[in-house]
Amino acid sequence: MIKAIYPGSFDPVTLGHLDIIERSARMFDQVIVGVLNNTAKKPLFSIDERVIMLQNVVSHLENVTVEAFGGLLVDFARIKGSNVIVRGLRALTDFDVEMQMAQSNRLVAPEVDTVFLSTSTEYSFLSSSVVKEYARYGVTLEEFVPGSVIERLKEKIAEE
Ligand code: PNS
Repeated sequence: MIKAIYPGSFDPVTLGHLDIIERSARMFDQVIVGVLNNTAKKPLFSIDERVIMLQNVVSHLENVTVEAFGGLLVDFARIKGSNVIVRGLRALTDFDVEMQMAQSNRLVAPEVDTVFLSTSTEYSFLSSSVVKEYARYGVTLEEFVPGSVIERLKEKIAEE
Protein backbone atom coordinates (compact mmCIF):
# COMPACT_ATOMS: atom_id res chain seq x y z
CA MET A 1 0.00 0.00 0.00
CA ILE A 2 1.70 3.20 -1.16
CA LYS A 3 0.59 6.40 0.46
CA ALA A 4 1.82 9.59 -1.24
CA ILE A 5 1.84 13.17 -0.05
CA TYR A 6 1.30 16.00 -2.52
CA PRO A 7 2.35 19.13 -0.63
CA GLY A 8 1.96 22.78 -1.56
CA SER A 9 0.64 26.18 -0.65
CA PHE A 10 -2.40 25.91 -2.96
CA ASP A 11 -3.21 29.62 -2.71
CA PRO A 12 -5.47 28.78 -4.54
CA VAL A 13 -5.56 25.30 -6.11
CA THR A 14 -5.22 25.50 -9.93
CA LEU A 15 -6.13 23.10 -12.73
CA GLY A 16 -2.41 22.32 -12.91
CA HIS A 17 -2.48 21.11 -9.29
CA LEU A 18 -5.67 19.14 -9.94
CA ASP A 19 -4.06 17.44 -12.92
CA ILE A 20 -1.17 16.28 -10.72
CA ILE A 21 -3.59 15.12 -7.99
CA GLU A 22 -5.69 13.08 -10.45
CA ARG A 23 -2.63 11.45 -12.00
CA SER A 24 -1.17 10.69 -8.54
CA ALA A 25 -4.48 9.16 -7.46
CA ARG A 26 -4.19 6.70 -10.38
CA MET A 27 -0.61 5.88 -9.48
CA PHE A 28 -0.76 5.49 -5.69
CA ASP A 29 -3.15 3.71 -3.32
CA GLN A 30 -3.73 6.80 -1.26
CA VAL A 31 -2.88 10.47 -1.79
CA ILE A 32 -2.83 13.08 0.96
CA VAL A 33 -2.82 16.64 -0.30
CA GLY A 34 -0.81 18.52 2.34
CA VAL A 35 -1.61 22.22 2.53
CA LEU A 36 1.18 24.22 4.13
CA ASN A 37 0.09 26.43 6.98
CA ASN A 38 3.02 28.80 6.77
CA THR A 39 2.81 31.67 9.21
CA ALA A 40 5.79 33.41 7.56
CA LYS A 41 3.96 33.81 4.24
CA LYS A 42 0.90 35.98 3.80
CA PRO A 43 -1.44 33.96 1.62
CA LEU A 44 -4.54 35.39 -0.05
CA PHE A 45 -6.67 32.54 1.33
CA SER A 46 -6.62 31.32 4.92
CA ILE A 47 -5.51 27.76 5.61
CA ASP A 48 -9.14 26.70 6.20
CA GLU A 49 -10.28 28.27 2.93
CA ARG A 50 -7.50 26.56 0.98
CA VAL A 51 -8.31 23.17 2.53
CA ILE A 52 -12.05 23.53 1.83
CA MET A 53 -11.49 24.60 -1.80
CA LEU A 54 -9.26 21.57 -2.29
CA GLN A 55 -11.72 19.21 -0.61
CA ASN A 56 -14.41 20.41 -3.01
CA VAL A 57 -12.35 19.85 -6.13
CA VAL A 58 -11.05 16.38 -5.14
CA SER A 59 -14.41 15.07 -3.91
CA HIS A 60 -14.68 12.77 -6.98
CA LEU A 61 -11.42 11.02 -6.04
CA GLU A 62 -12.04 8.31 -3.45
CA ASN A 63 -8.41 7.78 -2.47
CA VAL A 64 -7.54 11.46 -1.98
CA THR A 65 -7.76 13.39 1.28
CA VAL A 66 -6.75 16.95 2.14
CA GLU A 67 -5.01 18.04 5.32
CA ALA A 68 -3.26 21.16 6.59
CA PHE A 69 0.25 20.79 7.94
CA GLY A 70 2.81 23.01 9.60
CA GLY A 71 6.52 22.58 10.21
CA LEU A 72 8.66 20.26 8.15
CA LEU A 73 7.19 18.32 5.25
CA VAL A 74 9.18 15.18 6.10
CA ASP A 75 7.78 15.24 9.65
CA PHE A 76 4.27 15.39 8.19
CA ALA A 77 5.16 12.48 5.85
CA ARG A 78 6.45 10.46 8.81
CA ILE A 79 3.37 11.16 10.93
CA LYS A 80 1.18 10.06 8.03
CA GLY A 81 3.24 6.93 7.37
CA SER A 82 4.12 8.06 3.84
CA ASN A 83 7.41 7.45 2.02
CA VAL A 84 6.55 9.30 -1.17
CA ILE A 85 6.34 13.02 -1.86
CA VAL A 86 4.87 14.07 -5.21
CA ARG A 87 5.80 17.34 -6.87
CA GLY A 88 4.90 18.69 -10.29
CA LEU A 89 7.65 19.99 -12.58
CA ARG A 90 6.58 22.65 -15.04
CA ALA A 91 9.77 23.83 -16.68
CA LEU A 92 13.50 23.88 -16.19
CA THR A 93 13.06 26.90 -13.94
CA ASP A 94 11.34 24.66 -11.36
CA PHE A 95 14.13 22.14 -11.42
CA ASP A 96 16.72 23.92 -9.23
CA VAL A 97 14.30 24.67 -6.43
CA GLU A 98 12.62 21.26 -6.55
CA MET A 99 15.92 19.37 -6.67
CA GLN A 100 17.22 21.32 -3.67
CA MET A 101 14.03 20.62 -1.75
CA ALA A 102 14.03 16.91 -2.63
CA GLN A 103 17.70 16.50 -1.74
CA SER A 104 17.45 18.35 1.56
CA ASN A 105 14.34 16.36 2.46
CA ARG A 106 16.20 13.14 1.70
CA LEU A 107 19.10 14.21 3.88
CA VAL A 108 16.78 14.63 6.84
CA ALA A 109 14.55 11.65 6.02
CA PRO A 110 16.33 9.14 3.73
CA GLU A 111 13.31 6.84 3.74
CA VAL A 112 11.16 9.48 2.03
CA ASP A 113 11.56 9.81 -1.74
CA THR A 114 10.34 12.60 -4.00
CA VAL A 115 8.65 11.67 -7.27
CA PHE A 116 8.34 14.33 -9.98
CA LEU A 117 5.49 14.40 -12.44
CA SER A 118 5.86 16.58 -15.51
CA THR A 119 2.90 18.90 -15.76
CA SER A 120 0.59 18.56 -18.73
CA THR A 121 1.71 21.02 -21.42
CA GLU A 122 -1.45 23.13 -21.20
CA TYR A 123 -0.57 23.97 -17.59
CA SER A 124 3.18 24.42 -18.00
CA PHE A 125 2.98 28.19 -17.42
CA LEU A 126 0.34 28.07 -14.72
CA SER A 127 0.89 29.08 -11.09
CA SER A 128 -1.26 30.31 -8.22
CA SER A 129 0.53 33.68 -8.49
CA VAL A 130 -0.42 34.07 -12.16
CA VAL A 131 -4.01 33.16 -11.32
CA LYS A 132 -4.20 35.77 -8.53
CA GLU A 133 -2.71 38.42 -10.81
CA TYR A 134 -5.19 37.59 -13.59
CA ALA A 135 -8.08 37.62 -11.10
CA ARG A 136 -7.14 41.14 -9.98
CA TYR A 137 -7.25 42.38 -13.57
CA GLY A 138 -10.45 40.64 -14.59
CA VAL A 139 -8.98 38.00 -16.92
CA THR A 140 -11.31 35.05 -17.57
CA LEU A 141 -10.18 32.23 -15.28
CA GLU A 142 -12.03 29.16 -16.63
CA GLU A 143 -8.88 27.72 -18.21
CA PHE A 144 -6.83 28.10 -15.06
CA VAL A 145 -8.82 27.14 -11.97
CA PRO A 146 -11.85 24.96 -11.15
CA GLY A 147 -15.23 26.75 -11.33
CA SER A 148 -15.79 26.71 -7.57
CA VAL A 149 -12.46 28.46 -7.05
CA ILE A 150 -13.31 31.22 -9.54
CA GLU A 151 -16.19 32.32 -7.34
CA ARG A 152 -14.06 32.35 -4.19
CA LEU A 153 -11.32 34.28 -6.01
CA LYS A 154 -13.73 36.95 -7.18
CA GLU A 155 -15.11 37.38 -3.65
CA LYS A 156 -11.62 37.57 -2.18
CA ILE A 157 -10.33 40.10 -4.68
CA ALA A 158 -13.43 42.23 -4.10
CA GLU A 159 -12.68 42.21 -0.35
CA GLU A 160 -9.09 43.44 -0.88
O1 PNS B 1 3.24 25.24 -3.51
P1 PNS B 1 4.62 25.55 -3.01
O2 PNS B 1 4.63 26.87 -2.27
O3 PNS B 1 5.64 25.50 -4.12
O4 PNS B 1 4.99 24.40 -1.95
C1 PNS B 1 6.20 24.43 -1.24
C2 PNS B 1 6.23 23.39 -0.11
C3 PNS B 1 5.00 23.50 0.77
C4 PNS B 1 6.27 21.99 -0.71
C5 PNS B 1 7.53 23.61 0.72
O5 PNS B 1 7.65 24.96 1.04
C6 PNS B 1 7.59 22.78 2.00
O6 PNS B 1 7.70 21.58 1.95
N1 PNS B 1 7.48 23.47 3.14
C7 PNS B 1 7.45 22.85 4.44
C8 PNS B 1 8.70 23.20 5.24
C9 PNS B 1 9.84 22.26 4.91
O7 PNS B 1 9.73 21.06 4.99
N2 PNS B 1 10.97 22.86 4.50
C10 PNS B 1 12.17 22.11 4.16
C11 PNS B 1 12.21 21.71 2.71
S1 PNS B 1 12.51 23.08 1.66
